[in-house]
Amino acid sequence: MEMDQLVALCKRRGFLFQSSEIYGGLQGFWDYGPMGVELKRNVREAWWRDMVTAHNELQPPPGAPSPYEMVGLDCAIIMHPQVWKCSGHYDLFHDLMVDCRESKRRYRYDQIQGRWVEAKGQTIFVTGEAQGPEAIADLQHKALRFFNLRSKEADELQWHGPVASLTTLESAPMPAPGEGKAAAAGGPGKVYDFSRVLGPDAKTLGTLTAPREFNLMFKTIVGALGGEEDAAFLRPETAQGIFVNFKNVLDSTRVRVPFGVAQLGKSFRNEITPRNFTFRSREFEQMEIEFFCHPGQSRAWYQYWRDRRYRWYTDLGLAGQRLRLRDHTPEELSHYSCGTADIEYAFPFLAAGDFGELEGVAHRGDFDLRSHMEGKLVRQGDALVVEQDAQGKPKYRGSGKDLSYFDDLTKDRYLPHVIEPSAGADRATLAFLCEAYCEDEQPDESGKPTKRVFLRLHPRLAPIKAAVFPLVKKDGMPEVAKEIYAALKPHFNAFYDEKGAVGRRYRRQDEVGTPFCITVDGQTLSDGTVTIRDRDTLRQWRVKKEDCPAEIRGRLGI
Ligand code: GAP
Repeated sequence: MEMDQLVALCKRRGFLFQSSEIYGGLQGFWDYGPMGVELKRNVREAWWRDMVTAHNELQPPPGAPSPYEMVGLDCAIIMHPQVWKCSGHYDLFHDLMVDCRESKRRYRYDQIQGRWVEAKGQTIFVTGEAQGPEAIADLQHKALRFFNLRSKEADELQWHGPVASLTTLESAPMPAPGEGKAAAAGGPGKVYDFSRVLGPDAKTLGTLTAPREFNLMFKTIVGALGGEEDAAFLRPETAQGIFVNFKNVLDSTRVRVPFGVAQLGKSFRNEITPRNFTFRSREFEQMEIEFFCHPGQSRAWYQYWRDRRYRWYTDLGLAGQRLRLRDHTPEELSHYSCGTADIEYAFPFLAAGDFGELEGVAHRGDFDLRSHMEGKLVRQGDALVVEQDAQGKPKYRGSGKDLSYFDDLTKDRYLPHVIEPSAGADRATLAFLCEAYCEDEQPDESGKPTKRVFLRLHPRLAPIKAAVFPLVKKDGMPEVAKEIYAALKPHFNAFYDEKGAVGRRYRRQDEVGTPFCITVDGQTLSDGTVTIRDRDTLRQWRVKKEDCPAEIRGRLGI
């Protein structure tokens, strides 16, 4: 499947629109249309139900070290600015960006891809932002333009080494003509000499600046009279709301460690280069769990959550070659993390063999609770200590509140460790859409084989669970169909359609992933049965019209 086909379907059938499209759109922001809103709600509801409300705290689920409790929270998007200072986001939540002096465009440093190319006695590093299969063609196009060559002269370009990130030049000395291969292999010494780099949108060499840090948090001012000292931030993650409410949850419920707190809601990141449809947006939704456990059991809980969360995606239809669970290497781990695994999906906009993160499952130790007790922490050798300013005082003071847990059965007091499964609702929705997109050939009304596009969505996720059609708009069929529709509506989202040829009505429902279509036909009027058609197999069978709600509910498992 090409990404363009899915993007076109999403617009055509009301899944996703560019935000403020009539004004030219706003990069990194997306609106969910009538179908998309149902799909994303179903993703969120599946997560909330499977993780929180359907969780039985009396029995350990398969693989869990013990039974555990789950509760939820819904915190404010804007929190006290000290939260972000102690969590580390204020100082550390940044990406490196480079600017182009010629095009005035800004890029995320690690997302510029390029390749050494030699022609007419000159070697340059030609760059672009395209990923995947288009990257090679994009770089060739730019190299031809730079060297003033025509497409048919492409063999005059001598390519050296593979496509590589601009970051690989940091340690690579610039090659002289003919030395491209050696340079592409990398060399010693970190340099930011971009004098032979052709920026992604530049016509001349050496227009990219050295990388600079850019904090990703959106800043805002609270209150009518507010100045800089009143600056607050839109949360870049939902997690911190859970940590700062740890004590409130303990004091207001009867939960005991181990327990998890789930939160689902909007997060905001001022991404330098939002891209790949909703994959990297500036406003998105997260589904996060902070799971508090005894330090001695935290490794076992980490293993449990890593596997449990992977299974959630496979249960809902992501499977096979395109989904993987990848453990971080020690170099990738954050300074506080004792272990992290990413659940990744091979999105179609990525190069073959590449995967994009759907969810991270991290063992965070006691870093977060300690930070909000004592102040911002930094690593010193093997220990985490409170960071100090020039006067030897804590750089950012914590709340000073005691966030330890007292186990009244064992009389043990300790700071719980945290396992954090952190997922993105928009990324999960996008992955479910990518996985669901299918094409096959089916006979149309006249029997001619024609292309059919359908979304093989898991029935729990499908925006519409069943559509009801009268075969024709006469002979009392619409009346019977409307009765069935009314009987289905209290149970799930159903759709009534009497317009146009029935074949076309089926196709429209296939395109939005409706698993079942119910048709009232001539036989219904004589024996009271209707046909039910399965979206994926196209199998049709008859049931009594009054049995439709039970039949569909049984098949949906609701
Ligand atoms: N509390 C940990 C945390 O926020 P993260 O890996 O930065 O970790 C978690 O984010 C998840 O949020 C990601 O796996 C992804 O699904 C989603 N996410 C992060 N940034 C995103 C963005 N710019 N657009 C869409 N989803 C994003």
